[in-house]
Amino acid sequence: MSSVDTLNIIQGDVKKRIDRWLARYPVDQKQSAVIPSLRIVQEVNGGHLTKEIMDQVAQYLEMTPISVYEVATFYSNFEHQPVGRHKICLCTNISCMLRGSDELLDYLKTKLDVDVGQVTEDGKFSIKKVECLGACVNAPMMQIDKTFYENLTEQRLDEILDSLE
Ligand code: FES
Repeated sequence: MSSVDTLNIIQGDVKKRIDRWLARYPVDQKQSAVIPSLRIVQEVNGGHLTKEIMDQVAQYLEMTPISVYEVATFYSNFEHQPVGRHKICLCTNISCMLRGSDELLDYLKTKLDVDVGQVTEDGKFSIKKVECLGACVNAPMMQIDKTFYENLTEQRLDEILDSLE
């Protein structure tokens, strides 16, 4: 998002949203809001975090920067490189693998002409391999943005990607 001031991201609506989370915790426990705060600034920054943004979160929550980096690099839903407008998270864990996720991943990479971790030329999609998302019963599956898509086939993948703006 080009309109985001990444040197001062915690202001206006972003600040209000983080403050709503902070209000849930004791004033001396601001670090409790680190995950939702990172989620908010990542979303506002177009889907990924930078060191300067994490540093601002650390300062705002009165944490050491390293403590914020530890959280932001531990959870796989935080990104440290640019992502597409739609982040395709394809599960390649055991149940999905046994039901063809490796072949679907190859299909996806060829179809979009990008590798895992890359963004398509039009900025629309990026691909990420993820561990089990708990929908094994309908493997293979993927998550795009906030939606789970299950029982995937190549045809179903085509339909889903075509349906996204
Ligand atoms: S192994 Fe893919 S959802 Fe569980």
